[in-house]
Amino acid sequence: MSTLRKIPPGVGPKYPQVVALVGATGDLGRRKLLPGLFHLASAGFIPGCRIIGVSLDDLDVDGFRTFARAAIDEFSTRKIDEDDWRAFAETLDYVPLAAGAAGLRAAVENAETLLGGESRRLHYLSVPPSAALSVVRLLGEAGLVERSRIIMEKPFGTDLASAVTLNGKLHEVFSEDQIFRIDHFLGKEPAQNILAFRFANGLFEPIWNRNFIDHVQIDVPEKLGLDNRAAFYEQTGAFRDMVVTHLFQIVAFMAMEPPTSLEPGPISEEKNKVFRCMMPIDPKEVVRGQYSGYRAEHGVDRESDTETFVALKCMIDNWRWAGVPFFLRTGKRLAEGQRIISIAFREPPKSMFPVGSGVGAEGPDHLTFDLADASKMSLSFYGKRPGPGMRLEKLSLQFAMHETGLVGDVLEAYERLILDAMRGDHTLFTTAEGIERLWEVSRPLLEAPPPVRLYPPESWGPKSIHQLVAPHAWRLPFERAWRAPNPEGA
Ligand code: BG6
Repeated sequence: MSTLRKIPPGVGPKYPQVVALVGATGDLGRRKLLPGLFHLASAGFIPGCRIIGVSLDDLDVDGFRTFARAAIDEFSTRKIDEDDWRAFAETLDYVPLAAGAAGLRAAVENAETLLGGESRRLHYLSVPPSAALSVVRLLGEAGLVERSRIIMEKPFGTDLASAVTLNGKLHEVFSEDQIFRIDHFLGKEPAQNILAFRFANGLFEPIWNRNFIDHVQIDVPEKLGLDNRAAFYEQTGAFRDMVVTHLFQIVAFMAMEPPTSLEPGPISEEKNKVFRCMMPIDPKEVVRGQYSGYRAEHGVDRESDTETFVALKCMIDNWRWAGVPFFLRTGKRLAEGQRIISIAFREPPKSMFPVGSGVGAEGPDHLTFDLADASKMSLSFYGKRPGPGMRLEKLSLQFAMHETGLVGDVLEAYERLILDAMRGDHTLFTTAEGIERLWEVSRPLLEAPPPVRLYPPESWGPKSIHQLVAPHAWRLPFERAWRAPNPEGA
């Protein structure tokens, strides 16, 4: 039986959509975009949708349908209903890039005819930065700009000059209100929850500043390696792939002032103010790493200097945050896959506690957000251990989405953002100004990167990460695991 269900009005786009998925057979297409579009279409979020896969691969429609089914089988996190699949497969078409502007236009027009009535176009560019402009030109040449929106994947450019050029050329074809620069971390449910948590409660916002917060860590280690992405990764590296995009966007949500409303304009304004106050990244406060064995991977230069790991200190020089370091870390082939934000509070005077009480022994009290789709939060604090005397230990209050029974309602980040772009809602997308500023603060690092240091796979990165955060310590690996999920729900 089909999983089609009634979605409340207003959450989806008004008109049916023709999606041109450029780079459809790439890693992102397989892992996220095809499974995500399948879910959006079959759960009834979109009032009609046809998808045209476009890529360099020489496939026909059946070949693309087989590819899409394999991708959904492998990566969809939900059960696949065969009726839903058959209906979805019918909506898939394929055009190789070799068919040029005329071929693409014909496919889009055909899809529009099949949908009948009024529809909108969504072009999703899942291509590396070096290919983005030629696809934009192709869309212009094909006359596919009208009634369309375009989603651009990150990284947007590779430095300030290329981002400025890309924005300029993009604006020759598409107007700013048609452009959606995607950063999927902003589509993650817990990232948006940072805003709810900060601004919908009276408890935390008064202490959300340098008087009470000692430092912040945004730590996204990955167990994953390169998979099939060596060509992309060699040009990009961990800093461009993750920091200048995702991690800096999370910094902005953490650090921004309250916006006047949760609308795209006010949110971008406050985020951009954070970026304006960011100090240029000092290469002396950056650790670049490469896992041993990277250079032997298929498609990697034998003398590659690409970093597969980066850790750095970022400072925001404004009234709220002056003097509070934000430590960021991410890398491939690390010991664990985690996505956490950890806020360490300033330590109180501890002299009243007897020697050996354990006060402060497990680091400062912390607030921790887990950015997994089924998000978690924890507030850890010192409490008294029952029994005689005054022995202290770290305790915690935890919230876990999996205990609310609402986990099934979570949209994956890409699903949420594709739906927003179809609705023309820019709230969770990045702006040209913001991105250009981030490349500007990155310039000292890009111009004089410190040498890459080797680290063993399944470790936490090169040893010098400890000097970077001293006298603090990395929160990961956690000294205590998260509370185990309760399968019964709350
Ligand atoms: C992507 C990067 O944008 O984000 C990948 O290109 C990375 O290298 C991925 O693995 C991580 O995203 P998530 O949602 O799995 O944390």
